[in-house]
Amino acid sequence: MATDTAAGPYGDLPATHREIHLTERPTGALTEEHFTVVQAPVPSPGPGQLLVRNRYMTVVAVMRTLMSDANLPMPAYEVNRPLWGPAIGEVIAAPDAAAGGGGRVAPGTLVRHNDSWREYAVVDADAATPLDLAALPDPAAHLSQALTAWAAVVEAAEVRPGETAFVSGAAGGVGCMAGQMLRLHGAGRVIGSTGSRRKADYLVSELGYDAVVIRGAGSIEEQLREAAPDGIDVVFDTVGGEQLRAALAVSNRRARFAIVGALSGQLDGEGKQALVEIDTLQLLARGIELRGITLLDHLDSVPAWTREIGRAVADGRLTFPHVRYAGLEQAPRALLELIEGRHIGTVVVEL
Ligand SMILES: NC(=O)c1ccc[n+]([C@@H]2O[C@H](COP(=O)([O-])OP(=O)(O)OC[C@H]3O[C@@H](n4cnc5c(N)ncnc54)[C@H](OP(=O)(O)O)[C@@H]3O)[C@@H](O)[C@H]2O)c1
Repeated sequence: MATDTAAGPYGDLPATHREIHLTERPTGALTEEHFTVVQAPVPSPGPGQLLVRNRYMTVVAVMRTLMSDANLPMPAYEVNRPLWGPAIGEVIAAPDAAAGGGGRVAPGTLVRHNDSWREYAVVDADAATPLDLAALPDPAAHLSQALTAWAAVVEAAEVRPGETAFVSGAAGGVGCMAGQMLRLHGAGRVIGSTGSRRKADYLVSELGYDAVVIRGAGSIEEQLREAAPDGIDVVFDTVGGEQLRAALAVSNRRARFAIVGALSGQLDGEGKQALVEIDTLQLLARGIELRGITLLDHLDSVPAWTREIGRAVADGRLTFPHVRYAGLEQAPRALLELIEGRHIGTVVVEL
């Protein structure tokens, strides 16, 4: 809880607020000891910056990877500095700032930015995007992985009507949206993978999966062959490893693979690599395409995709499975429990 409220140039603001820092780079399992809550002065915005009070943040698998010095499109976390990631904040002050979307941003506006794990943040106005609440009224839904899933389905998977699709990591934040979107874009049969029977049942009963293979319940390849007797045309891969290899073995000629994540190598140990041995002869013999995709390469499409996703949510074609924690101090536990595989969908922390 922020403390020591005092009147200042931006109204009644606390003198200090809480941030969560990384204490050291984990070399094995991540524990509560790797996080510490630090009381720090509330920052002041400079020219072109906004002061925001964070209202929601999400914890995601890549946060474990960012704690190592892995080679990713974004910098690794620094020790003894606040962690960061997707957040929704309310603008408290905007001295002379223009919003990321173009015009000026008014205090009270909710913006999405990338400085979570703290109660207050100063963000560059051009790095803050006002939420399109007319398109998607629930602010927390703007933290969903729907845009990543949309990008991969539209730009990489190119699913065609009636095709059979496989989503690895189907109960995760990205995977929960991916299966639904593949169906929206015409997939005929949708198969998922997950780590437990409980999650598999949820995927079938709530998200419309036709079949689910279970990690740790025998050979993934054998389970996939049974679930997809006519082979797989499209793969939405968030796991890599054995699951990617199995999907290649079962895929049809001209299959398209959207490589979205690498959970198999990400959440255990140092999380730096997701190595897998692939028979490239099979790729060329069957004309299979593997495409890595990141949302960062498709940011121009975000406003239009947000409107399409909002329409699908509004008319019930798409749901946003998620769990919520209350309080910044719960964020480390939320991430640890995500890594343990306890959750289905996106994990949101309300601040
Ligand atoms: N390309 C992009 O732009 C982009 C954007 C966002 C995320 N990503 C990536 O997409 C992937 C999925 O992200 P997410 O946020 O949806 O993560 P997530 O699914 O929330 O990650 C947690 C889940 O991973 C599964 N898991 C844990 N250990 C595993 C293992 N050894 N093998 C397979 N699954 C394991 C568990 O689910 P089960 O119990 O169901 O196995 C767990 O619940 C991540 O690799 C992430 O970095 C990419």
